[in-house]
Amino acid sequence: MSQPRRTRILTRADVARVADMKDAVEAVTEAFAAQAKGTAQMPPKVYLDLPEHDGDFRAMPASLGDAAGVKWVNSHPKNPERFDLPSVMGVYVLSDPASAYPAAILDATLLTALRTGAAAGVASKHLAIASPKTVGFVGAGVQARYLHGAHQAVFGDAFEALFADRDAARAEALAAELGGRAVSVEEASGADIVCTSTPSRSPVVQRAWLAPHAHLNAMGADAEGKQELEVAILKDAQVFIDEREQATHSGEINVPLHDGTYAESELAGTLGQVIVGDVPAKRDGLTVFDSTGLALQDVALAKRLVAAAAAAGVGTELDLVGEG
Ligand SMILES: NC(=O)c1ccc[n+]([C@@H]2O[C@H](COP(=O)([O-])OP(=O)(O)OC[C@H]3O[C@@H](n4cnc5c(N)ncnc54)[C@H](O)[C@@H]3O)[C@@H](O)[C@H]2O)c1
Repeated sequence: MSQPRRTRILTRADVARVADMKDAVEAVTEAFAAQAKGTAQMPPKVYLDLPEHDGDFRAMPASLGDAAGVKWVNSHPKNPERFDLPSVMGVYVLSDPASAYPAAILDATLLTALRTGAAAGVASKHLAIASPKTVGFVGAGVQARYLHGAHQAVFGDAFEALFADRDAARAEALAAELGGRAVSVEEASGADIVCTSTPSRSPVVQRAWLAPHAHLNAMGADAEGKQELEVAILKDAQVFIDEREQATHSGEINVPLHDGTYAESELAGTLGQVIVGDVPAKRDGLTVFDSTGLALQDVALAKRLVAAAAAAGVGTELDLVGEG
């Protein structure tokens, strides 16, 4: 008799047991390459705006090879102060595309943080100078920890980490915990690689503060009206996006596109195009990666996390939908 089918449930602690940043970097690279080659499916994410709660929900479906799934995730920047909850939380449903059986339901909060960090690490690997001496982190919240971890996974321990936050205590705490220095936003912006992860709606990083060869990972702008970089930076840099529809709607470029100070024709291409060799990057000049976060990154990583959990016997198996 065949084994009864079961749905694997993975809590955040379960995901943490099998999570590995190097694996996340590989998963995200696979996702970007599949997107550029057109071998995966990813409809644009659907936003459910909640202005009365200062937040929003997003539904993010995708399929990649033998996995399909959807993430239900939010962004509520005031959550920490209002509810003592993270700004971003998520749930992932991973299904078998052949039978549609729900293979797993997992916490997607850690998954989101891992794949977002990994996306920046992959971008830095392909767009920044080869051996960065300094990496600046503007915004020292949840994402900054994973942005730092991804840069360690890609570049090792050889760089100095510079943490900045408008709440100086956060930058100091992260520097003490992860190693590095708490600095001003201006000093962090002068690093070889600069990662921004704030929910800002006006530019935080100024053009004048940047090194001529700097690579910036603009991670924070992932909804309409959000913006972290002075437009002059976009004008002078080779700007790579993750996906055109998402980036124009909600990425770093959304505000200058709408007010007419930046045009879509100025974009250099997608990160996926660089990874598969279709578009060359000028790595010793100014480059920007505008990340909105792809559903393909989630499905690629969810698939690996669930496989690792199954191999290690991590999680709980349930007869969720019944065998009928
Ligand atoms: N691109 C993606 O795929 C992706 C994925 C997840 C989250 N995000 C976005 O990234 C941003 C950060 O997420 P998080 O979970 O780290 O949030 P968080 O609330 O944990 O951290 C944000 C940090 O930014 C700091 N900050 C706010 N404004 C600042 C400013 N003007 N100058 C300096 N520091 C400032 C805050 O003090 C806080 O420490 C959010 O906008 C979120 O929506 C993007």
